[in-house]
Amino acid sequence: MGVALLTQVSRRYFRHAIPLAVLSLLLLYLCARSFRVVSGCTSWAQSCNPEGPPPVQVRWQSGPLEAPKWKEPPCEGPQGVLGRVMEPFRASLNPEGDVALSQYLAGWRALVRFLTPLGSIFAFATDEASAKVTALEARVHGPEAAHYSSLAAMAAWERRAGLLERPGVAPRDPARSSGSRTLLLLHRALRWSQLCLHRVAAATPGGPDAGVQCGDAYRTALAPHHPWLVRQAARLAFLAFPSRGRWLGLACPGAGETEARAALARAAATLEAVYNRTQGLLAERGLLGLA
Ligand SMILES: *[C@@H]1O[C@H](CO)[C@@H](O)[C@H](O)[C@H]1NC(C)=O
Repeated sequence: MGVALLTQVSRRYFRHAIPLAVLSLLLLYLCARSFRVVSGCTSWAQSCNPEGPPPVQVRWQSGPLEAPKWKEPPCEGPQGVLGRVMEPFRASLNPEGDVALSQYLAGWRALVRFLTPLGSIFAFATDEASAKVTALEARVHGPEAAHYSSLAAMAAWERRAGLLERPGVAPRDPARSSGSRTLLLLHRALRWSQLCLHRVAAATPGGPDAGVQCGDAYRTALAPHHPWLVRQAARLAFLAFPSRGRWLGLACPGAGETEARAALARAAATLEAVYNRTQGLLAERGLLGLA
């Protein structure tokens, strides 16, 4: 009877144990899998982990790959996405207090490359910017190149040559607008990009999302200069705005959240320095009112 009971118990035990073991293995497998998913994606990407792990965990995950002491993150280096934007924009601020146009345009090209993968949301801004960059490049490398080395040189030359539009009057053919006016339009778009980058970098976890913040930046910097239809298109576009995680992932692939945010903030500061100087130069020359 003792043996019979034992057999019965062990049979029952095995009957339950086998499915249990299978279940445990399955759970283990799923855990390992989800761990790999979490650690495989950049830790702060919102789609992977909505809460975002604390920075300590980020350090731990990327620990073995990190250099022992702080270095410029790769995304800010010469081959990095942000480095390629910041380097020419910084170089455009020449020692004479002017803005070098070829560097400014190179900065814009890199900025468009950075913003384009963020999706169609930016198409309305980047397509427009690309067209303007191309138009201004044609002048910088064109027959009058000597007059298009810098903002101050361009403005002086276009005024002398009678190429400037009258303030507040849009040219009939926008494709033939003056270099100064084209620059002014890029300048406003730069303000928007800068505000947007800055707000994405500075946002707090519980705060408004990136779409709301860049929408606000749009209303401040660009909307007053855009026709109704464009404003409506922009308003819709901001509803499908990429998450902050996606921004940070594009800006600094593989970096931790803290690091990526700091890098994005520095990029925004560089754009602000360029914006400030351009704003000053345009204001001094009375060019902010070109339509
Ligand atoms: C740009 O100008 C604003 C207002 O004058 C100033 O507060 C800000 O510090 C300047 N930013 C940079 C990066 O120079």
